Amino acid sequence: MLKISEFNHNLLGWYQSNKRALPWRQTQDPYRIWLSEVMLQQTQVITVIPYYEKFITRYPDIDSLADADEEALLKDWEGLGYYNRIRNFQAAVREVRDSYGSVVPDQPEAFFKLKGVGPYIGGAVQSIAFNHLLAAVDGNVLRVISRLDADRRDMTKASVQKDIKHRIEEIIPLEAGDFNQALMELGATICTPRAPKCIMCPVQENCEAYKESIVAELPVKKKAKQKNELYYNVYFILNDRGEVLLRKQEGTLLQGMYELPKYDVDTSIESIGEELGIDVDTSGVHIGSSKHVFTHQVWYMEGYMLHTRSPHPGFVPLREVENLPMSRAMQKLYRLFESENG
Ligand code: ADE
Ligand code: SF4
Repeated sequence: MLKISEFNHNLLGWYQSNKRALPWRQTQDPYRIWLSEVMLQQTQVITVIPYYEKFITRYPDIDSLADADEEALLKDWEGLGYYNRIRNFQAAVREVRDSYGSVVPDQPEAFFKLKGVGPYIGGAVQSIAFNHLLAAVDGNVLRVISRLDADRRDMTKASVQKDIKHRIEEIIPLEAGDFNQALMELGATICTPRAPKCIMCPVQENCEAYKESIVAELPVKKKAKQKNELYYNVYFILNDRGEVLLRKQEGTLLQGMYELPKYDVDTSIESIGEELGIDVDTSGVHIGSSKHVFTHQVWYMEGYMLHTRSPHPGFVPLREVENLPMSRAMQKLYRLFESENG
């Protein structure tokens, strides 16, 4: 990236005529831009679009999201994963309502203090909404920069990512928001992980990896640590009234989401009954298995059906279950149960 002004000119020119007309690019509203970036941080554009539209309809501004019921919000977020994002976002939005008169602060120092706002969200929102000269470094950007600079460092290292952020902030132009989005857009559409379209690339002349014919070797990413494998038995505990026992998760990343009670595979049915304070009359009919891959964990789940006559505050009528927020992992198991029971 020797000639910075030429590089910026090529990239921004390309972006202006090639950018996708994504819904969050049709607004200047910092709240909407912020919402979109929270969704986009860990989820692909194509998945985000319908969720973004739904949220903008239901929660068009700071006050409507601040006032929303947390369970309704989680239900609307269902399927996007990383549920902490929406709980943190609501906490931050409430802070904006209470401390800033419902106006998203355009001072980075204030914005970065809000819950869930780290270097990526902070940089993205403050640059796109207010053109502050901050980088927004995501996976796409790391890949693009590693190739432009023929940078062979390990892109999974936090210190390298920080350094790349500073690199970008040295060259970022006044159109900071467009510049960041142009880097992301180049990564998403041209400088893709496999088979990048260098022939069509607007910054090919500025690309060291292309010149050195090492594009295919970049980015370097140290192999990810093997995921933790967890084995659970998951229980559909039914009573005579057609209700199933669910519980709300606490103190985990899935806080606020509902789950079927799940236990380490070594836990006996007696101790489960004891822990839940119910008597179970069956030994557990196996109804199927399911696997779910998270970022750092893999869950292997076996579903069993149990019956009880004991009362418990967690019983929910079967027809109401679909109204409760449940993670993808649990939904997969729940469907096994539904297919078993029509
Ligand atoms: N990924 C993260 N932020 C994005 C944005 N603003 N546009 C497209 N893709 C993105
Ligand atoms: Fe990426 Fe190829 Fe463009 Fe270099 S020339 S930035 S490797 S698409």
